[in-house]
Amino acid sequence: MKLDSSVSAVVTGGASGLGAATVKALRDLGVKVAIFDKNPETGAAKAAELGALFCEVDVMSEESVDAGFAKARAANGQERVLVNCAGGGRGGKTIARDRETGEIKPFKVSDFEWVLGLNLVGTFRCITKSAAGMATLEKQEDGERGAIVNTGSVAAEDGQIGQVAYSAAKAGIKGMTLTIARDLSSEGIRINTILPGIMATPPMLGVKTRAPQIFDGLTASVPFPKRLGHPAEYADLALTMLRNGYFNGETVRLDGAIRMPPR
Ligand SMILES: NC(=O)c1ccc[n+]([C@@H]2O[C@H](COP(=O)([O-])OP(=O)(O)OC[C@H]3O[C@@H](n4cnc5c(N)ncnc54)[C@H](O)[C@@H]3O)[C@@H](O)[C@H]2O)c1
Repeated sequence: MKLDSSVSAVVTGGASGLGAATVKALRDLGVKVAIFDKNPETGAAKAAELGALFCEVDVMSEESVDAGFAKARAANGQERVLVNCAGGGRGGKTIARDRETGEIKPFKVSDFEWVLGLNLVGTFRCITKSAAGMATLEKQEDGERGAIVNTGSVAAEDGQIGQVAYSAAKAGIKGMTLTIARDLSSEGIRINTILPGIMATPPMLGVKTRAPQIFDGLTASVPFPKRLGHPAEYADLALTMLRNGYFNGETVRLDGAIRMPPR
């Protein structure tokens, strides 16, 4: 996929972290970008800073996503690029035992469903609606109509204690990547997924402030380089996946060779 001002893109979770870095990288190439984010303050500010369009969107809501695509397409035209970064977690073990009373508490199924709803269903919702729009476009060189990048996590492969819902959701994104690539192959739409390790975005930088020792331990656990990943490094891989026409149906770790231990 050629990335220039003739192309428009949608980036979910684009107000912050990995999504914001991807918006910047796309804007640097002249791509028209719509940020889908549920946070109106950071979303509007990031859009103004980077010359993007802000659409207040909650990826967990069907109506909100539909309205977002309508607004983005009215302003920028049908997108050829979708990058799914909206996500997050609610931690907790499958069952937990209260240290003082010994009471055994199962993980709330409603929390499990919420995490799947945000990461897995939210990602799929944006994919299916975006792909339906991409399928109406003229093909570019190589018969290509569009390209999609998703964000999983290394937790898809080595989930830690307390990450059951998040691991399941991110593994679901990994699991559906090849299937969707096959589903969309006849339409000329590619899809790939990135599994980031520990990246220097607001959620992780918050750990640095709240619990510096834990943060130092996390940094030390990366084999090489011994640091958190830069959001720009995520954006760089996302752009490679978008540009390289033979990159399809693949899931790639971006993690400095880290393998997460049980805790
Ligand atoms: N930072 C890491 O170390 C790391 C590691 C592995 C995976 N990830 C994944 O990368 C993605 C981006 O994370 P980040 O670290 O950049 O976080 P971030 O908090 O900096 O950015 C996430 C953005 O998503 C938005 N968002 C959250 N829920 C939304 C919803 N329902 N609808 C629309 N927007 C929503 C937030 O408002 C925020 O702007 C997430 O999917 C996360 O699970 C991050």
